[in-house]
Amino acid sequence: MKLPALLVASTLALPLADVGAQSFPPERIKQGAEVFAAHCAPCHGERMSDPGLFNLREFPKDQQTRFINSVTNGKNQMPPWRGQLKPEEIEALWTYVATGEKTP
Ligand code: HEC
Repeated sequence: MKLPALLVASTLALPLADVGAQSFPPERIKQGAEVFAAHCAPCHGERMSDPGLFNLREFPKDQQTRFINSVTNGKNQMPPWRGQLKPEEIEALWTYVATGEKTP
């Protein structure tokens, strides 16, 4: 009987694995913060502090796809970042924005 053992294993693995792409390892957040400071802060303010254009601190945390799309393809006055930033840098930005500047 292998099944019960498997079930136990996957149940135990869940909290550790976080929720797939929604896991926010500190080093990814830090990478995101660095990319943000270099590319996004001029418009959105240092550490997302400028709510004038769009308050990134209030970006809905459950809308990762929208974030990736808007950042990759641009939105209205915001230029597209495709080609300038690697997909993994945009992913790192998401971890940074989604954690809402809770880390240094
Ligand atoms: C040239 C100025 C400028 C820069 C640089 C900039 N943004 Fe923006 N951003 C804007 C403006 C303006 C808006 C508001 C767009 C709108 O809704 O009309 C915006 C909106 C957004 C939104 C909300 C999009 C949505 O779906 O509503 C996100 C997310 C965002 N920016 C992330 C970023 C990230 C991440 C970076 C750095 C890679 C960045 N921005 C750099 C100007 C900028």
